[in-house]
Amino acid sequence: MRPISRRQALLLGGLGAAATAAGGAGLVWSLSSRPAPLIGSGLVQPEELHSESGLLQVRLEAAPGQLQLAGREVSALGYNGSIPGPTLRFRAGDTLKITLANSLSQPTNLHVHGLHVSPDNNGDNVFVTVTPGSSFDYEYRLPGNHPPGLYWYHPHHHGMVADQVFAGLFGAIIVEDPQGIETSAERVLVVSDTSVDQLGGIRAASAMDRMAGREGDLLLVNGQSNPEFSALPGQRERWRIVNACVARYLRLRLDGQYLQLLGQDSGRFEKPQDVDEVLLAPGNRADLLVTAAAGESVLRSFRYNRGTMAGMMGAGPAPGSAVEGTEGTVLATFRVAGEPAAPPPGIPRQQSPADLRQAPVAARRQIIRSAGMGMGGGGMMRFTINGREFDASRTDTTAAAGSVEEWTLINTSPMDHPFHLHVWPMQVIGDSGGSPEWRDVVNIHANGQVKVRVAFADFRGRSAYHCHILDHEDLGMMGVIEVL
Ligand code: C2O
Ligand code: CU
Ligand code: CU
Repeated sequence: MRPISRRQALLLGGLGAAATAAGGAGLVWSLSSRPAPLIGSGLVQPEELHSESGLLQVRLEAAPGQLQLAGREVSALGYNGSIPGPTLRFRAGDTLKITLANSLSQPTNLHVHGLHVSPDNNGDNVFVTVTPGSSFDYEYRLPGNHPPGLYWYHPHHHGMVADQVFAGLFGAIIVEDPQGIETSAERVLVVSDTSVDQLGGIRAASAMDRMAGREGDLLLVNGQSNPEFSALPGQRERWRIVNACVARYLRLRLDGQYLQLLGQDSGRFEKPQDVDEVLLAPGNRADLLVTAAAGESVLRSFRYNRGTMAGMMGAGPAPGSAVEGTEGTVLATFRVAGEPAAPPPGIPRQQSPADLRQAPVAARRQIIRSAGMGMGGGGMMRFTINGREFDASRTDTTAAAGSVEEWTLINTSPMDHPFHLHVWPMQVIGDSGGSPEWRDVVNIHANGQVKVRVAFADFRGRSAYHCHILDHEDLGMMGVIEVL
């Protein structure tokens, strides 16, 4: 990483202004002149930091820089000079201390997405503002029964979340298994999308982009364009996949390989599920076992139709449907060749996930998300929850600590919206039986609804729920919950 010029820093600081800036000899290059995606570069793993004797202490510096992105240097934002930031690994019962240093020219803060930790004080408190040039010491204590799995971190300063994530601020978190699964390789695949402008910086989003939820021109894995990696036939690998895109849904396929899903978001299924395809809304994660079969397979993301605002006028295909007939976008190439490996041992049985279906319900609520034309005009839509835009000083929902609630998540708009609740994971309550499904981001189809149950266990305090199309969150589709 090279230090960047003040001018570039200014451009990055005002992402909104970058698109209108001109000139900049030596910096100018256009999308059409950029090199083709680098094929054949090996997959790079983000740096890994592990806890020791129950403690992981790290310093994360959020800073602009000339960072490696899609095989070249781009003026972007990163934690500790890389995109993604370091992977943080620790166990249930551990303490995580993060000093967040803000070297950006705008405020930021930190959120540990999916972790069941206190939202108070210097815990997972999204109401904290870390001003430019200052730092903040976060401390998170994981309960001893914290579910294992894949989580992630990203900024959460309201109004700037989408810009900062799109520019490169995100990283993975792994809560280790109490009992490991034998694999020949474990890979973290953080999928993100972004767009690079003519000055070699991150392209600013237009008002339309924000309303629709911006999707980048580049779809990257660990900041790389189509990295490749390999295995021997018969080897079993574990892939931990984060959807860190601001708004893009990933419909992932790896044809030719045997895939088993160990879990999604928080925790683990009792038994791995055989899958051909995994749909990850923004913010969702997949914990996947891949048993390698000889040949070359391409990890692709197929288009998912999440609806559009134009759907308001009744145009376009029905949202929620898979759009077929495209090749999909290449994410990575997996080559399997060589002497077959000995078959891997069986997968140890996982701890049964909790099940709230029989639990007494203390309160039932409706959380209604809508998007509609505002009173103020100007062509901006209002993105609301229960009719209101986010206000950090207002508490929208109060729940009692120790109680179980049932929420009906309703979407009255013509686009899908992924609903995310901080701190407390949600159990999706379907019509059918089946094993309990836990998520911290639940997609709600256009004009659809989903019932979830939440156990407000362990922690009190104020936190948030919001649409994980981060542009919508920034536009106000967020509410405040206080657990008392
Ligand atoms: Cu991943 Cu409130 O966010
Ligand atoms: Cu979150
Ligand atoms: Cu939304």
